[in-house]
Amino acid sequence: MIYTNVSLFCYIVMKVSFKDLGLVNTREMFAKAVKGGYAIPAFNFNNMEQLQAIIQACAETKSPVILQVSKGARNYANQTLLRYMAQGAVEYAKELGWKRPQIVLHLDHGDSYELCKSCVDFGFSSVMIDGSALPYDENVALTRKVVNYAHRHDVTVEAELGVLAGVEDEVSSEVSHYTKPEEVIDFVKKTKCDSLAISIGTSHGAYKFKPEQCTRDPKTGRLVPPPLAFNVLKAIEKKLPGFPIVLHGSSSVPQEYVDIINANGGKLPDAVGIPEEQLRKAAKSAVCKINIDSDSRLAMTAAIRQHFTEFPGHFDPRQYLKPAREEMKKMYIHKILNVLGSNGKAR
Ligand code: G3H
Ligand code: 13P
Ligand code: ZN
Repeated sequence: MIYTNVSLFCYIVMKVSFKDLGLVNTREMFAKAVKGGYAIPAFNFNNMEQLQAIIQACAETKSPVILQVSKGARNYANQTLLRYMAQGAVEYAKELGWKRPQIVLHLDHGDSYELCKSCVDFGFSSVMIDGSALPYDENVALTRKVVNYAHRHDVTVEAELGVLAGVEDEVSSEVSHYTKPEEVIDFVKKTKCDSLAISIGTSHGAYKFKPEQCTRDPKTGRLVPPPLAFNVLKAIEKKLPGFPIVLHGSSSVPQEYVDIINANGGKLPDAVGIPEEQLRKAAKSAVCKINIDSDSRLAMTAAIRQHFTEFPGHFDPRQYLKPAREEMKKMYIHKILNVLGSNGKAR
């Protein structure tokens, strides 16, 4: 079969099911998470060190995990390579002593039917079709088309309603539009999607709020962001009891990383994220998937900048990528244990 992928390369590919790669879809994972009052970590990966840190952290804590591949990751590392890395991650997890790894390979922010189809055919176990920037009826139609194809292969589908502020891959939005609770029943019924990403005030990247949207802690001088719209989340849960809800843009932008970066030649003024207590509260509700990418970037950059300050003569990437990988692993374990509560859920 001949496919054209986004990078406009034509290649011949044999269809493969995620089941043959040892991956799982999100169906059972989400059902358990909603019931158990915890959330599954959805960590983006672009390179080997991130993937090693994620798998080591999840193997140690026995946490199920969703490995996410974004458009940026596909452009940077190549979709084919990332997919084979995820397949390798299942074997690596077993080698680390994780008997039954629960690993999902997920397309993050898929922007077309063709892309979602190519991921389904190539072994992804879950895809997101992000039609959130489209008019409602077009979002419904596109999502329904993706669901029809994905479900034939037992691949689960995440959809999105409402628009996050900030940058959604290459689509940028100045303001967020919270998800309208009155639309969710109709949307889920018509599309038959398996989970729904909603907008309640989170956003992508390390600058989630402008300083004028925040107050300042008089003691530390740090920005204090406005709270998430838990009233919107509650209203959605009421309309869709037990239905899996997803939060994008959920990095907390740890200030210790921002400080290390800024103290070692970086420039991240007023970077601010979602406070972890709020994510913990969300994880106890129907929110069963929490997306974290920026915190991993910050952990890696902080460790590398600090390393170069201490060892300006180092030039072997292994010298600075090792502490970077260790810092990311520490951060992932912290999220699993103290924010998401997913530890011990995949023994
Ligand atoms: O949703 C956004 C993710 O953080 C991925 O971003 O496209 O720069 O990899 P990226
Ligand atoms: P952050 O930028 O907050 O890490 O969000 C990542 C995300 O939503 C990926 O889809
Ligand atoms: Zn996202």
